[in-house]
Amino acid sequence: MASLLALTLLPLLLAGAQAATPGVQHIRGTSWPSPVALVQCLDTHHIPYRVTSSPDWAEYATTFNARLQYIPAAIALPNTTDHVSSAVMCASKTGFPVQPKSGGHSYASFSTGGRNGILMISLENFNSIKLDNKTGVAMVGGGVRLGNLAQGIWDQGRRALGHGTCPGVGIGGHFTHGGYGYSSRLLGLALDQIIALDVILANGSYVHTDSQSYPDIYYALRGAADSFGIVTTFYLQTSAAPETVINFSYSFPDALTSVSNAVATFKGVQKFSLNGSVVNRNIGFGITIAGNATGYTVHGTYFGSFASYNKTIAPALLGQIPFRPSNESTVQETDWITSLVQLGGAPNLTVPLHGYTERDNFYAKSVTTTEPFNDKALERFFLWAYTAGRGKNSPVDWFSIINLYGGPDSAIGRYNEEFAAYAGYDDLWVVQNYGSAPMNQQFPKAGLAFLDSLNGAMTSAMPEYAAYLNYIDPSYSREQAYRLYYGEELFKRLKELKKQLDPKDVFWNPQSIPIGSH
Ligand SMILES: Cc1cc2nc3c(=O)[nH]c(=O)nc-3n(C[C@H](O)[C@H](O)[C@H](O)COP(=O)(O)OP(=O)(O)OC[C@H]3O[C@@H](n4cnc5c(N)ncnc54)[C@H](O)[C@@H]3O)c2cc1C
Ligand SMILES: *[C@@H]1O[C@H](CO)[C@@H](O)[C@H](O)[C@H]1NC(C)=O
Ligand SMILES: *[C@@H]1O[C@H](CO)[C@@H](O)[C@H](O)[C@H]1NC(C)=O
Ligand SMILES: *[C@@H]1O[C@H](CO)[C@@H](O)[C@H](O)[C@H]1NC(C)=O
Ligand SMILES: *[C@@H]1O[C@H](CO)[C@@H](O)[C@H](O)[C@H]1NC(C)=O
Ligand SMILES: *[C@@H]1O[C@H](CO)[C@@H](O)[C@H](O)[C@H]1NC(C)=O
Ligand SMILES: *[C@@H]1O[C@H](CO)[C@@H](O)[C@H](O)[C@H]1NC(C)=O
Ligand SMILES: *[C@@H]1O[C@H](CO)[C@@H](O)[C@H](O)[C@H]1NC(C)=O
Ligand SMILES: *[C@@H]1O[C@H](CO)[C@@H](O)[C@H](O)[C@H]1NC(C)=O
Ligand SMILES: *[C@@H]1O[C@H](CO)[C@@H](O)[C@H](O)[C@H]1NC(C)=O
Repeated sequence: MASLLALTLLPLLLAGAQAATPGVQHIRGTSWPSPVALVQCLDTHHIPYRVTSSPDWAEYATTFNARLQYIPAAIALPNTTDHVSSAVMCASKTGFPVQPKSGGHSYASFSTGGRNGILMISLENFNSIKLDNKTGVAMVGGGVRLGNLAQGIWDQGRRALGHGTCPGVGIGGHFTHGGYGYSSRLLGLALDQIIALDVILANGSYVHTDSQSYPDIYYALRGAADSFGIVTTFYLQTSAAPETVINFSYSFPDALTSVSNAVATFKGVQKFSLNGSVVNRNIGFGITIAGNATGYTVHGTYFGSFASYNKTIAPALLGQIPFRPSNESTVQETDWITSLVQLGGAPNLTVPLHGYTERDNFYAKSVTTTEPFNDKALERFFLWAYTAGRGKNSPVDWFSIINLYGGPDSAIGRYNEEFAAYAGYDDLWVVQNYGSAPMNQQFPKAGLAFLDSLNGAMTSAMPEYAAYLNYIDPSYSREQAYRLYYGEELFKRLKELKKQLDPKDVFWNPQSIPIGSH
């Protein structure tokens, strides 16, 4: 297997064909067909599209992650589900892999293919949000961004969904691969709120799926949509928005002064997190090690009264930590929508429907664990963070966030992988290690190595760990990716479904579910 891959790659590496795209990690074949036949087919079906010579190509092709810029063969801009269907058929007939793009925030730029030469199907025209305020079900287009979604259901009926915090992230990737925010311990992962999906399959057919109709397709889409179809409409069960939100952020400068202080602080937070007499689904939080280990904060939200927060949560949390929070700490009462705006970091939640321009030049890795962290894993992690990651040593600007997914009463733990093609329902903690470089610079090699080592320092002391699907990590081989994201059992089930539903491997990216014997 390894030598076969090397042989396929060799001519390409010698020819330097990938020199213009730093960071390309996975390549299928050494050349791909000319897009002429593909583009003719798109024309025949009157599907709006762009090609590299289009004057506004860059607007559609530029990836969120500037580190991984790929060049699609063409970008389809369907207005209708018929367009989506025909575009998929065109690609299938002419031999091009397909990936849809929703918000484009894939860490690995998989919505741009994860390699050059695919057909990207941009869903930016699928942007409607309609709340049925009798049932609380929202019908949402596959290209809607989270900020517009949250604002839309709030405006139409004061409703809420649990999901991530960045307003520019798309529903398409986020809701089909997990999706976590501070409200997830109350409302479940973004994924869990899906009750039905309209989807275009690899053979071009358009189906409405839910737990009763096409249950296998419905199952596979929730966890592995990138390998199985293009969701054009999401049906989401919303909830009443919590009345009050207590927003807390405690800063612990003493935890920055030594590895043992850092570990003791984390262990205190962890002890609190496991305490079922105070922790319930109304609390969600994380620990952030920010700015090359110049900040150590515990921050999150609590849905309940300020009085009950002060009486139960605050003393139980702070009582476990050996240091006092600094005067930089804040605790505030706010409402649901204001809290989302604050978390989003922009003046409001509204994201333009066209011409989104935010970018980052980054590399991120994740670690998930179903068990509490042991001392050794914490010690190794903080040792690496506080030495190689600090001051002049730090080769890249980095931060880590460790979020509580599980613990007492968490709504995330209601389900398991029988419910959806998602292996992380029993996660306790999810860690993200994220490094970014200035936009105009090549991401430093030493920065990649640092983040690999930071992640590895932790996992080297863990008997078992996995990774989070929505922090998709292009450094992994297909085999590593399947093991970390799905595990053997679920992967086997998905491979069988892939064979039935997409036998020509139309929906492809470097880590998609394979049809063959990978
Ligand atoms: C700034 C930032 C903040 C983030 N914050 C959070 C957070 O708070 N919580 C969290 O859990 N995650 C967070 N993430 C990770 C985020 O959830 C994932 O990157 C997510 O997959 C992005 O979805 P997207 O639609 O924007 O991405 P895209 O790049 O458009 O899509 C990602 C993958 O999903 C596929 N896909 C997209 N749309 C569809 C569709 N309609 N049907 C089928 N397949 C589809 C694409 O082909 C691609 O393979 C964040 C990411 C960034 C960059
Ligand atoms: C289709 O979408 C494009 C934007 O990509 C828009 O300019 C055009 O008017 C739309 N066409 C139809 C028929 O809705
Ligand atoms: C529900 O929708 C109707 C019709 O759009 C509107 O009049 C009503 O105010 C809405 N209810 C809520 C709670 O927003
Ligand atoms: C397309 O695939 C679906 C799911 O396997 C199947 O139900 C449908 O009949 C297929 N349509 C055609 C036209 O082959
Ligand atoms: C972190 O380190 C990088 C690389 O040395 C540097 O550019 C950046 O400014 C540092 N950030 C902070 C917050 O110290
Ligand atoms: C709760 O404590 C904060 C200080 O952390 C204080 O500002 C606030 O007034 C208190 N609220 C209630 C209702 O006790
Ligand atoms: C759980 O929290 C309560 C309230 O703060 C405290 O009395 C108790 O000792 C805690 N239990 C553990 C195991 O830490
Ligand atoms: C916190 O205290 C330090 C001195 O101990 C002071 O310099 C700083 O301004 C204070 N910050 C706030 C937000 O009060
Ligand atoms: C809490 O409030 C502060 C100050 O207004 C804000 O910066 C932060 O983003 C808020 N956090 C949450 C979780 O709402
Ligand atoms: C939202 O904020 C953006 C700036 O981020 C601004 O351009 C836009 O006009 C604002 N939109 C609304 C509806 O207030």
